[in-house]
Parts: sequence; C-alpha cells; structure tokens
Amino acid sequence: MHKALNTPLTQALGCDYPVIQTAMGWVSTSSLVTASIKAGAFGFLAAAVMTPEECEAEIKAIKAKTYKPFGVNIHAFQKGVDQIIDMCIDYDVAALSYGRGPSPKIVEKIKAAGLKCVPTIGAANHAPKAVKMGADILVCQGQEGGGHTGYTPTWLLLAQVLDHGLGVPVVACGGFKDGRGLAAALTFGADGIAMGTRFMMTSDSPTPDATKAKYLSSEVTKIPVSKKLDGLPQRMVMNPLLDDLEKSGKLGMLMRGFSNGLKYKSQTGMSMIETIKTAWGMASKTDMTLGQTMMAGNAPMIIQKAMVEGKPDEGVLPSGQVAGLIDDLPNCEQLISRIISEAEIRLKAVGG
Ligand SMILES: Cc1cc2nc3c(=O)[nH]c(=O)nc-3n(C[C@H](O)[C@H](O)[C@H](O)COP(=O)(O)O)c2cc1C
Repeated sequence: MHKALNTPLTQALGCDYPVIQTAMGWVSTSSLVTASIKAGAFGFLAAAVMTPEECEAEIKAIKAKTYKPFGVNIHAFQKGVDQIIDMCIDYDVAALSYGRGPSPKIVEKIKAAGLKCVPTIGAANHAPKAVKMGADILVCQGQEGGGHTGYTPTWLLLAQVLDHGLGVPVVACGGFKDGRGLAAALTFGADGIAMGTRFMMTSDSPTPDATKAKYLSSEVTKIPVSKKLDGLPQRMVMNPLLDDLEKSGKLGMLMRGFSNGLKYKSQTGMSMIETIKTAWGMASKTDMTLGQTMMAGNAPMIIQKAMVEGKPDEGVLPSGQVAGLIDDLPNCEQLISRIISEAEIRLKAVGG
C-alpha cells in the first residue's frame, strides 16, 4: 500500500484505508456498515433514526460478522440518546459521529470511555468550536454533499479548516466517489475522505432497487438544496414531489402539512390536534411557518417512502450532487479496492 494512505485518520480509527462510510438514515444499517468495514473503510451506523432497541440489535448484527472497529451516529435530541451512548460504551464501539452534538459533560464521558468524537461541520467557524468541545476528528462537509448541508463548497471549506491548524485529523466530505478524489484530498492536506452517496449506491446498501435506479439516472445539476422539507437546507434529487414542494407558497405548504398529518397519523401516533399543537410550538420558536413545521414533523416518513418502501416519486431522496456522476452499483469490496488502486496511481503520478 502507498505510504500516503496510512494517515492520522487510519491510526485514530484503526481502519485499513483513510475512507469513512458516513451515516445515512435507513441506509447505513448493519449490512452496509459490515460490508464497508470488512472492505477496509471505517463505517458509521445511522442510529439517529433508531430506537435504543433497534440500535442494540444492529450493533450486535455487526459484531456477529466482524471484529473490525466501527462507529455509531447519534443526534443530540433524539429519544433515548443517553441510552444509545451508554450502549456504545458497553459494546466497545470505536467512535461516535454527530452534527448537533451532546453536551460537554456527555462528550467528556464518551472520551473517558475511549471512544473518538467525530462531528461533521459545514462551516469553517464551527471547526474551532467543535475541537474545543472535544472533537478528536473533524469531518468537513462541503455544500455539494448529501442530506443536510451547508453553503461552502468542499475544497473552500477544507482550505479554511486546514488553515485553522487545529491539531486533529481533518476529513474531506461532500462530492467524493473515487481514488482521484482521495488522492487530491490527501495531497491537499486532509487525512482522508468521507462518502455518503457513493456508499448508498452500492449493492451492499439496503436502499430499494427502484430508488437506486432513480439515483442512477439523476443529473448533477438536478440535485438541488431545498429548505421545504424540514426548514433546514437539504440536498435531494429533484422529483415530482420536490418540484411541487418548491412551487408551494405558504398556503400550499399548510395544505400539504395537514394532508401529511392525516396520512402519517398512524406512524407518528399523534392525533391531528397534537400534530398542530407540536407544529405551532415549533413555529413560534423559529422563523418557520406552520405549514413548514407540519411538513418537518412528517419528514422522516416522507424520506422512508423512497428510501425504505422503494417509491422514489412519492418520497424524497437525500443525495450528494455526486450521484449525477455515478453510474454503477459495485459492492463495497469492489468499490474500496478500485478507490485505493486509483488513488495509488494518482499519488505515484504526482511524485512517488
Ligand atoms: C440518503 C442520505 C441520508 C443521510 N442521512 C444522514 C443522517 O442520518 N445523519 C447524518 O449525520 N448525515 C446524513 N446524511 C449525510 C451523509 O452522512 C454525508 O455527510 C453526505 O452524504 C456526504 O456527502 P456525499 O453524499 O457527497 O458523499 C445523509 C446523506 C444521504 C445521501
């Protein structure tokens, strides 16, 4: 292996290659994580959309198949998050990743137990704050990345964060799919890359075939950022539903919010009155309209329509722009070995 591929990231996480498979709700399940870590990457289980019981079953499923280290992704405000953190400590999980992080006291507990804290940041000014709050590794996601995303392009964000000289491994994220990108990130000064969309578009991910077909036919300029789903900027493949959402004004959003509230009543377990009360509470604390907060409450169900039920036109498809450049579905083993040999070729080509 080219010596440039042994980096502070591989040393900190104990993986073979400086490649992270990121957490993606309903995608980074035990099957994808097992496949990515067996192939030599470092994988994160997407537990931010799981109950503690589901998370435990998934951790056990990974551990039953491999001894390799892996991480778990959490959201500070999810139900049962403290239980999940304790479980990760008990099961000797190697790292926790998060966007919205836990409190400094919890971070201290996580670090004392030997787990690495791996926040994702989308703006340069968040980097020193994240390190101050205990980050061991920083994943810097540029605007071309999938799901919730920021406003700075990947290479500009990376330059800004590296210029901070924070003394922790820095990982480039957003728009990566191959060994050229890995070699470029390493020569730029990063310690590795993190990929979401590319791992979702493998035969090892649980995403239904009909939905994968939609990703395969997507175009790089038709994967926009919209705030219409949950009020936060989120990058998704354009489809009839997203097109409708984008065209909806305040009244249209309110109608949609109501109809989704009724449609998904059995899944949320909330009556229409409860849905409206919760949405109203959220709207009064943010600059979102009632229609938007009602939509936000149902966002997980709308995403699952595409990502779990395999109905890509009835749900939304979170995605990096890189989906527009991807036209195959290799397994993780094939993907990683291809990325590593491409990176080695580029690294040798630029000087040994
Ligand atoms: C389908 C999908 C679901 C995602 N879900 C989550 C999630 O649950 N938690 C999270 O922190 N990031 C999530 N993300 C963001 C990814 O973890 C990752 O940061 C992003 O996809 C990187 O950009 P790339 O797709 O260009 O590689 C999601 C992304 C996608 C494409």
